[in-house]
Amino acid sequence: MDIIQINYRDSRPKAPPPENVELKFSERAVRELEQLLTHYPDKKSAMLPALWIAQREYGGWLPSNAIAEVAVRLDRSYAEVEGVATFYTMYHPGHPVGKHLIEVCTCLTCSVCGAYRIADYLKQKLGVDYGETTEDGMFTLEEVECLDACDRAPVLQVGDQYIGPVTREDVDKLLERLRNTAEPTSVKLADEIVQTQLHASDQEKVRKG
Ligand code: FES
Repeated sequence: MDIIQINYRDSRPKAPPPENVELKFSERAVRELEQLLTHYPDKKSAMLPALWIAQREYGGWLPSNAIAEVAVRLDRSYAEVEGVATFYTMYHPGHPVGKHLIEVCTCLTCSVCGAYRIADYLKQKLGVDYGETTEDGMFTLEEVECLDACDRAPVLQVGDQYIGPVTREDVDKLLERLRNTAEPTSVKLADEIVQTQLHASDQEKVRKG
């Protein structure tokens, strides 16, 4: 029988004491959250959009201070917000992601259509495994479940784009394009999701301040 050591305690982000939580949201982010809160009957219900705001504000991931800030702003406990952030795979709590997060679908249709060959090629080109970030902080590679774009298998997701059916040549072009993309696609995606959830009138109020 194999015994597998679970390093859960070491890898779990630590909750900062409430008095040490730095509120780092920009003025714009605070106004966005204020508008979003008007859509819901209570603060707790706005947790998913609040986490998207936090993910954008903190550079595409959720350090423990980001989770604590959402908890403070929504009057919830750290554990409750952390529970939500760690449940959904689109949030990245506890460890930074690169400027560009490349997600490879290896679910059934994509794997039949060559997803593992593409994943191996990406690992070789980037010199990282799943869950790792290149030394220059440019790329993080993740393996994901079905992206609901099986008709384009094998599929990658980068920011708000699906790329598929993807070939090795496409991977080369994609990496070249991303290296020359100034705006981090992981932050851009978070911002687009926040903007999608704000009504046009909300966006106007946010702009006016
Ligand atoms: S199996 Fe890859 S998108 Fe559905």
